Amino acid sequence: MKNFARIVTVLISIVLMSCGSNKENTSQETSKPGQQSISDSELSPWETTHGIGPVKTEITLGKIDNSLAVQGGKIFEMKCLACHKMDERYVGPPIRKITQTRTPEYIMNMILNPDEMVKKHPDVKKLLAEYMTPMTFQNVTHEEARAILEYLRLIAQEKTQSN
Ligand code: HEC
Repeated sequence: MKNFARIVTVLISIVLMSCGSNKENTSQETSKPGQQSISDSELSPWETTHGIGPVKTEITLGKIDNSLAVQGGKIFEMKCLACHKMDERYVGPPIRKITQTRTPEYIMNMILNPDEMVKKHPDVKKLLAEYMTPMTFQNVTHEEARAILEYLRLIAQEKTQSN
């Protein structure tokens, strides 16, 4: 009888110990993703307006530089046209009006850092839900992105094509 009681006590304490450690594990696991999502959604006001990426200060824009825009147009054809049409929805959203809806810094950051933008920026997350394809980095340098921006400024002035 004594032995039986001992075995029961041992069994109970094993069960209690494993319950205790389980609780600790689950509380640790649940706190981690919670913390992550808080930091992910905390964009600074700058990031909300101008995007997340290497462009962290305002770009001063002058008159449209035509030769820079032509350069940008060539890069756009090679690296962006596969997914973006001027006036129609395609793999990605139509691009002609982009300089009217987004700041130059936002556009540059989207071109230079799309992966993080897709993960963290609420507006891009919404677009992802709509277009179902994440935009990926196209190996564009800072200078190339600036040239594309100039091209996008230029096409915004042209009339809508029916293409
Ligand atoms: C693989 C297809 C693909 C390629 C290539 C691509 N994009 Fe995108 N782009 C998208 C999609 C899809 C979105 C919408 C957001 C998302 O789902 O990631 C988007 C979003 C954008 C946005 C933001 C639109 C908004 O309203 O905020 C800009 C600006 C943009 N792309 C410019 C470019 C430029 C410039 C290039 C070329 C360097 C390019 N994209 C290459 C698919 C692509």
